[in-house]
Amino acid sequence: MAVSEADVRQALRSVKFPGLGRDIVSFGFVREVIVDGDHVRVAVHMTTANPDAAATVERHAREVLEALPGVADVELHVETSTPGTQGSPSEAKRLLPGVRKVVAVASGKGGVGKSTVAANLAISLHRLGLAVGLLDADIYGPSQHVMMGCREQPRLDASGCILPLESHGVHLISLGFLIDPDQPVIWRGPMVMKALQQLLEEVAWGELDVLVVDLPPGTGDAQLTLTQQVPLAGAIIVTTPQDVALADARKGLAMFRTMNVPVLGVVENMSAYVCPACGHREPIFKEGGGRRTAAELDAPFLGEVPVDTAVVVSGDAGTPIVVASPEAPAARALTETARRIALALGLQPAAAPASTARSSTSS
Ligand SMILES: Nc1ncnc2c1ncn2[C@@H]1O[C@H](COP(=O)(O)OP(=O)(O)OP(=O)(O)O)[C@@H](O)[C@H]1O
Ligand SMILES: [Mg+2]
Repeated sequence: MAVSEADVRQALRSVKFPGLGRDIVSFGFVREVIVDGDHVRVAVHMTTANPDAAATVERHAREVLEALPGVADVELHVETSTPGTQGSPSEAKRLLPGVRKVVAVASGKGGVGKSTVAANLAISLHRLGLAVGLLDADIYGPSQHVMMGCREQPRLDASGCILPLESHGVHLISLGFLIDPDQPVIWRGPMVMKALQQLLEEVAWGELDVLVVDLPPGTGDAQLTLTQQVPLAGAIIVTTPQDVALADARKGLAMFRTMNVPVLGVVENMSAYVCPACGHREPIFKEGGGRRTAAELDAPFLGEVPVDTAVVVSGDAGTPIVVASPEAPAARALTETARRIALALGLQPAAAPASTARSSTSS
């Protein structure tokens, strides 16, 4: 029975990228399939910082191809390049050239407070004297334009690059600026990857100490694009204390490790309710799971952020809690988490507060 190109592509759909739930065909890594009688030639190109991932893909793809009926001879070429460059070395272009450290804020499960943590961390890092950018990469539900209180449209510079807006001293780009907020976004994987790729290529961030990237939940296309295109300094995993969220946090953490991205640590959000009158802590969603999970997985524990309706109100109003009520227990926890992250990144916080630092419109 003669094998066809479609058969080969179909077979390769069973080869998953390590650590992610998606296959190498739908990610667009399979660049060429040539069938000549019973001889099959396949070229795969992927960007990864992890040589083991490439070796795993190569081994699995070869097994799958050799098992295909009608195939006698397999010629398989797996090429890799490191994140931050694209294509062959001659076309290689360093993305985010002025950015010293890129940090991803991620979670396995949705709604655990990633965007809240990302916004407050970005502002807190800025207040430590660092030049900070915040990229809302949540294609499905961008929210940073609301949380950071920034609803204008960004402008383009003379070369056509998107200029970030600035809010609370942080340079900000959100997909919320670029898509219609009232339309549901139904994007397939390759579209997600393309949109994020475009944001990584076409935003004029200028010089930043750190770019905080707010990711959609899970281990999907946005995560893959980011880890493939940009050398990440680290990932922060946000979780809530419930077992279901912790199980997903473990998956997220495992994904970043598979991609050779250092995990800076785990933040437990909505950990306990702290009574504003007496300071009593009431762990309404349980407590301590984030710390235990971090210890189990040998990742640093970065902090516990209590449940506080002021977090919701301030986020909805565009003035995150570290701005609205810096003395609130949640704000203190987020500020302390930011300090730990700055230390972990080796970014020396300036002694002076951020108002004297590089940003001009801190508020
Ligand atoms: N510590 C907290 N106390 C009370 N409410 C919180 C806290 N952290 C986040 N929230 C609220 O929980 C809701 C979800 O938070 P957020 O949007 O930050 O989560 P997310 O993980 O980014 O969600 P998604 O997965 O949809 O992107 C928001 O209404 C937010 O204000
Ligand atoms: Mg979010």
